[in-house]
This record gives sequence, C-alpha cells and structure tokens, in this order.
Amino acid sequence: MSRYRIAPSLLSADLLNLNDEIDQLIQAGSDELHIDVMDGHFVPNLTFGPPLIKGIKARKSIPLDVHIMIANPQESASAYLKAGADCLSFHIEATHEHQAIIREIRRHRARAGIAISPATPISRLLPLLQHIDKVLVMSVEPGFGGQAFLPASLQKIAELRELLAKHKLEKQVTIAVDGGITNETIAQVAACGARSFVVGSYLFAAPDRRKALDTLRSVLAQLEGER
Ligand code: DX5
Ligand code: ZN
Repeated sequence: MSRYRIAPSLLSADLLNLNDEIDQLIQAGSDELHIDVMDGHFVPNLTFGPPLIKGIKARKSIPLDVHIMIANPQESASAYLKAGADCLSFHIEATHEHQAIIREIRRHRARAGIAISPATPISRLLPLLQHIDKVLVMSVEPGFGGQAFLPASLQKIAELRELLAKHKLEKQVTIAVDGGITNETIAQVAACGARSFVVGSYLFAAPDRRKALDTLRSVLAQLEGER
C-alpha cells in the first residue's frame, strides 16, 4: 500500500451535482475528501458549514478531512467535529487557543491538524507539533481554488520535515500540502517530504477524474520506486 494519501477538495467540484461527484471520487480511489470551510472573515470567500459535512457523513463512507479557514475556530470547532470530521485542521494564525481546540478534537476521537498560511514561519509550529497528527502546509493563499502553487512552499515543507525529524515526530505527524497540486508539483512536494496531497482544480478540470488520480498516483509510485 502506498504511504501517500490523495484528498480531492470539494471546493472545485460541481456543487449542483455533488452526490455524483463524491461517488465518482470514491470509485476512483480517493483516500479522503477534503472539505474547505470558509467564513467570509478569516478568508474573503464563503463556503460550506456543518450541515453539509453531516449530510456527507451520513451517506458516504470515506474519511472527511475538514479544513476550517475561519476566525475564532475555538468557538465552532466542536460543531464540525459533531458533524463528522474525521480530521479537523484549523489555522495557527486564527486563534491563540490552540491547545483547547486540540483537546476538543481529541474528545471527539478525531485527528488534529494545524494549517499554516504561506507567510507564517514554520518555527511557530514548534510548541504544537508534539500534540498533533498533521500539518497542512498551504501552498497558495487560503481562500480560493485554482491558484498557482507558490514555490517557496517547498523550502517550508523541507524545513518542517527537518524539524519533525529533529524531535522524532516524523512518524506521528503527517506533512500535508494544500494548493496548486498538479502532476508536476506533486513530485516536488513529495520529494521534500509531503505525504498527503489536497487536489482541487487539477482533478476537477480533467475530463476523467479516475485518469487524473491515476496519473498522480503513478508519479508518486515512481518516486517510491526511486527510493
Ligand atoms: C484553498 C483551499 C484548497 C483548494 C485547493 O484555500 O484550502 O483546499 O481547494 O484547490 P487547488 O488544488 O485548485 O489549488
Ligand atoms: Zn483546503
């Protein structure tokens, strides 16, 4: 089994056809579904809330990877957890209550992720790394799908990998990357240490989702073969 995980982002799906879109993604072998929650404050865009997550959870059996781009996540993290998030990632920049949110995530037996925006240095994660399961490195500015990958993210991913290794946390904490992932950038981020990949516009722009996912998997398999 591959040690890599691919998480399609519903942000770029055909929202009026979401049920079929999700079924297609499951059939094509997605590892999880990435759901981008935006509040119109922390980011200018406004997207999904707990009812949609609850609806998907009730009808589909695929892990839900919920990325909350919201101000004051301590106030509503529990709503997303109750709705059925299997992993909840909140932004380090959005709150001072990191530990309280992580405790709430644990209380719901979900996985805890911290998302980090492009301008935020990796060193800010240091006090939190031992308490979480995942870091979601944003490789675009949070808020919109379809943006170009920011090359400076590669350095950040490599730096995070080093930090995790230094503290013997590389097995405990997954490096995930979100934004601008394509058949070209996926190889670069994987080579720097990312193991989980959020993919939005690349996948949904492709006429055949399964083929696009297979292409990404074959790029990753090639990297695994080279190791
Ligand atoms: C951006 C979101 C991403 C987005 C990725 O704020 O967090 O998950 O959907 O989309 P692409 O792959 O198009 O950059
Ligand atoms: Zn996201």
